[in-house]
Amino acid sequence: MENACVHGGSADIRVVETATAAEISIEDRGPGIPAGQFERMFEPYVRGEAVDGRPPPPHGTGLGLAIARNIIHCHGGSVTLRSGSAGGVLAMVTLPHDPTAARELPG
Ligand SMILES: Nc1ncnc2c1ncn2[C@@H]1O[C@H](COP(=O)(O)OP(=O)(O)OP(=O)(O)O)[C@@H](O)[C@H]1O
Ligand SMILES: [Mg+2]
Repeated sequence: MENACVHGGSADIRVVETATAAEISIEDRGPGIPAGQFERMFEPYVRGEAVDGRPPPPHGTGLGLAIARNIIHCHGGSVTLRSGSAGGVLAMVTLPHDPTAARELPG
């Protein structure tokens, strides 16, 4: 949600509850992430390049997505990024209801 606001200018959030999970989508209308770069953005300390001639936001460590994915995985969930219908980023988070689906903490 912070990324949608900081990098994309706004966040359009939807939560759908299914029989097994909460499915959360966060979409923005910003410059997006170049195709093929989505998974790379989850690596620690990786930040995107300027898009459309705009400089990247001056703050940020490139750790947000890595930390978010780690926490979501610990709850047995998943998070992916893709292109949204408005050209920005669409982040999809799935969190299962069943706590026994949670994975063990790394290390
Ligand atoms: N909604 C988005 N729109 C455009 N680019 C995005 C979006 N979300 C993430 N990114 C790109 O992915 C990179 C990595 O995101 P990440 O959240 O890991 O780090 P960050 O936002 O730069 O810093 P921080 O550690 O403060 O979160 C960002 O620098 C940005 O280039
Ligand atoms: Mg961030």
